[in-house]
Amino acid sequence: MSMNDSSRAEPVWIDDEVLSCAGTDLIAVFDGRSQTLESTSRRFVVVKSRHMIDWYARHFVEGPPGRVLEIGIFKGGSVALFEELWHPARLVAVDIEPRPVAALAEYVERIGAGDRVRPLYGIDQGDHDALRAVLQTNFDGEPVDLIVDDGCHYLDESRTAFNSTFPYLRAGGTYVIEDWGWAHWPGVWQQNGGPWRDKPAMTTLAFELVMLAASRPDVVESVETTQELIVVRKGPAVVTAGAFDLSTSYLTAGRLFVEAGFPRTPRDACRLVRHVGSTYTRGLSRTIEERGRGLRGRARRWLGRS
Ligand SMILES: C[S@@+](CC[C@H](N)C(=O)[O-])C[C@H]1O[C@@H](n2cnc3c(N)ncnc32)[C@H](O)[C@@H]1O
Repeated sequence: MSMNDSSRAEPVWIDDEVLSCAGTDLIAVFDGRSQTLESTSRRFVVVKSRHMIDWYARHFVEGPPGRVLEIGIFKGGSVALFEELWHPARLVAVDIEPRPVAALAEYVERIGAGDRVRPLYGIDQGDHDALRAVLQTNFDGEPVDLIVDDGCHYLDESRTAFNSTFPYLRAGGTYVIEDWGWAHWPGVWQQNGGPWRDKPAMTTLAFELVMLAASRPDVVESVETTQELIVVRKGPAVVTAGAFDLSTSYLTAGRLFVEAGFPRTPRDACRLVRHVGSTYTRGLSRTIEERGRGLRGRARRWLGRS
């Protein structure tokens, strides 16, 4: 349930970049200016295109999400956006940066939302235990309606964030991964020496989610991708917190579909060996089973003839 107050004015676009909300403006900048412009408590920089903001406004029009987790605070714009759109009963946002965003602290105080809107700093989305602790201590044991990952956009950390937080999403809840497609964006992203050329692409995560939707629709009901977003809808299955691992949850009939990535830490190496090992073992045991069935059938037919 959200705290949606129908007496509050609906956000209105003043032009393609400025969304005017009740007493607070949001400047949507999706280019280099996001680094230089600063937020104030009445005018926030939000690193999203107008198109993306409109998607959020449209997608939940039937029922605004009441419990929201976002990864990636930056200048506070998306926290202000989600608050202005939905007034959720609980809006928790985390960022790896240890220093609080002053404009956001002022905004939360001004609107008197200190208990509902909780920006938390110094939390790394690649830290499974830290994320679990955030979910366990900030949502009063209730499942979350919406999780938005707009953090570092690296494969391993995004997968860890998914594994850690997805179990806390309610059945039918939405998990959004923003800006996943950077390896496919045109221009500088395609050039040698371009950004993140040494990083494994997020595309692997998109493929894994699609494979999970095909293998376990009770866990992932659907996956929708656009240039800007991956939108995952959770199925009705209970997913055990702490034990969920996306990469070992889908079936592949022994095939390897995703780039394994280059292990950069001993933990990555262990995960890779486990992943390849379990995929291979699953394929092998299926082959042995099928061969066994074939041999048993042939033996029965042979015995029947003799
Ligand atoms: C694209 S910005 C977020 C923009 C914001 N959501 C918005 O729409 O205005 C990405 C943010 O993720 C944070 N970040 C980067 N790596 C992270 C990590 N490993 N864990 C958590 N946050 C991280 C950065 O500090 C930065 O503030």
